[in-house]
Amino acid sequence: MELSEAIAELDALEAAGLAAFREAGSPEAVEAARIEYLGQKQGKIKAAQQRLKQVEPSARKDYGQRFNAVKTALEAAWESAKARVDRPAAASGLDVTLPGTPRPRLGHRHPLTQTADELIDLFGRLGFGVARGPEVEDVFHNFEALNIPPAHPARDPADNFYLSDGALLRSQTSTIQIRVMERQPPPVRIVAIGRVYRPDAVDPTHSFMFHQIEGLMVDRGVTMAHLKSTLRLFAEGYLGTDVKIRFRPSFFPFTEPSVEVDMLWHGGDRWVEMGGAGMVDPDVLRAVGYDPEEVTGFAFGLGVERLCMRKHGIDDIRLFTTNDVRFLSQF
Ligand code: DAH
Repeated sequence: MELSEAIAELDALEAAGLAAFREAGSPEAVEAARIEYLGQKQGKIKAAQQRLKQVEPSARKDYGQRFNAVKTALEAAWESAKARVDRPAAASGLDVTLPGTPRPRLGHRHPLTQTADELIDLFGRLGFGVARGPEVEDVFHNFEALNIPPAHPARDPADNFYLSDGALLRSQTSTIQIRVMERQPPPVRIVAIGRVYRPDAVDPTHSFMFHQIEGLMVDRGVTMAHLKSTLRLFAEGYLGTDVKIRFRPSFFPFTEPSVEVDMLWHGGDRWVEMGGAGMVDPDVLRAVGYDPEEVTGFAFGLGVERLCMRKHGIDDIRLFTTNDVRFLSQF
């Protein structure tokens, strides 16, 4: 091939390539021009380089020089075309100084679920197994078997969520005591955690739904001393050894004697009720077929939200159910 002819081809290639990069208006168009002219496999520059072999040996140096100049010019045109098409994106509001997409955050268990697990673990170390019972209960297990007679104010429709004749959302986890004793002979040593429902007006310390942890221990020779030391050990285990709890005489139809258990709140200026407890009434034992001359038992029912609030300094029970991640993410 004549040198002049080969050089003319290089000139035409340069002109066409420069025009292509000049006219490319988008990153895609610039990339297409790059592939057409500078592509490693089938680009026109590559082809022009291979044409060197067709040039007479004496003219190869001249051809090579011109080829290098064209190649350099097209590479420079590509660089500046790239820079040109990238700029409009920045101008259109892409702020490259903004932080990147954050890593997805791992979820975790709800604070009450964590509390329930901790309580079960603590009582487990004291030898208590875990029992369960239904949230939709019958009047027998929620009241009758617990010695709460038909005329008792605790059965008032205004204080319970009755569903239909003989069924209601349980108002206390004490129902589970009965279900466990019906199922198995003594000895018994269980805790049960679950939701209970009462139509209370909602405020920072009340809700129409909350959780209780119920405990029941029945065996030969169980006394009030066992009850008190169990609850003390538990309170110290969950709230710390500096916690103060106290027992006040009280009344529940299913225990005799009965106590209410208070814990000293943060700041030490206020006692807050942790729950109720007592020695299982002999009538309750008899009704499930236990012999109160043979075995005695203690029982307790504690408010799970209260315990969790005392432990973590939470001041409003509604936070547990409003799904505010600023609250939930702290646990
Ligand atoms: N069930 C009672 C309540 O909800 C609490 C309670 C009191 C549970 C005494 C007990 C108990 O097991 O022995 O107010």
